[in-house]
Amino acid sequence: MSGLNQTLLNQVRQFRERHAVPETAKSRVAQPPIPYFGDEILEMAVTALLKGENILLTGGKATGKNILAENLAWMFGRPVYNISFHVNTDSSSLIGTDTFVDNQVKLRRGPIYQCAMYGGFGILDEINMAKNEAVSVLHAVLDYRRMLDIPGYEKVPLAEETRFIGTMNYGYAGTRELNEALVSRFLVIDMPEPEEDTLAQIFLHLFPNIRTGALKQFIGLFLDLQAKAAHGEITTRTLDLRGMVGALRTVEMGLSPKKAVTMGVTNKTFDLFEKEIVGDVVRTRIPDGWGREDVFE
Ligand SMILES: Nc1ncnc2c1ncn2[C@@H]1O[C@H](COP(=O)(O)OP(=O)(O)OP(=O)(O)O)[C@@H](O)[C@H]1O
Ligand SMILES: [Mg+2]
Repeated sequence: MSGLNQTLLNQVRQFRERHAVPETAKSRVAQPPIPYFGDEILEMAVTALLKGENILLTGGKATGKNILAENLAWMFGRPVYNISFHVNTDSSSLIGTDTFVDNQVKLRRGPIYQCAMYGGFGILDEINMAKNEAVSVLHAVLDYRRMLDIPGYEKVPLAEETRFIGTMNYGYAGTRELNEALVSRFLVIDMPEPEEDTLAQIFLHLFPNIRTGALKQFIGLFLDLQAKAAHGEITTRTLDLRGMVGALRTVEMGLSPKKAVTMGVTNKTFDLFEKEIVGDVVRTRIPDGWGREDVFE
């Protein structure tokens, strides 16, 4: 499966064996569409989770934060609860809301509550966007108390196997800093930008019929843009693995590689000057005359 050492793999297996999944939560145990490629990161994450820690995955866009979180839940055999944070996420959307059932007030359990009960892996997506009200719910859940405090109800302890994985973007406009006390409750993993090997693994997994020459050029294009961004010649806007994968998908459908890459890469910047620089890089990698047959077998 992965390049993790045998001791870790054994411990993960034992974790799975020790903790059965409740029937009601079984539908939430799901295999992700692609494995996470990156053994060092995987080792850090698995070790931390085995030791009962919560982890925070930080990094640029499309560095595989969510894919890693989903793969971890799958490896540990746990149901996934995805919780996206935005300006409207308040404590009731996390814990639950009072509803009337048969003339009685009952709590309709929210995702954090269910995650606590069923020993889920809660993915706290874009956690830096959380408002104070949501943050205060997370504090007791994430530290040694492992407790969900619901005003008006009894306290709910987290199941032993419950873990939380936060994700957050940083490094470009529009991202918010995460409150220090909240960061303190996680071990933090800084997700690396993909390198040549990882890119090859991802592209080959998604497109097993890609031609070797084209694979090299698409990887080269990504690395060229990465280098230009590192030197400050362009922003990271066009450096988008999602866009490149999207472009390859449309080429597979028959669209010309030039048009596909324009949509998936070049057009991701709205700055005309930058668009020109990126366009030049694209032309050296993806010839205008290429068709589908130049990219796929
Ligand atoms: N190391 C990796 N292994 C496997 N897939 C990867 C990896 N890095 C990126 N990807 C691919 O990149 C795409 C984006 O991944 P994902 O959604 O997990 O990124 P993210 O870091 O959560 O991005 P964002 O911050 O924009 O939400 C997915 O299609 C995923 O397969
Ligand atoms: Mg994400």
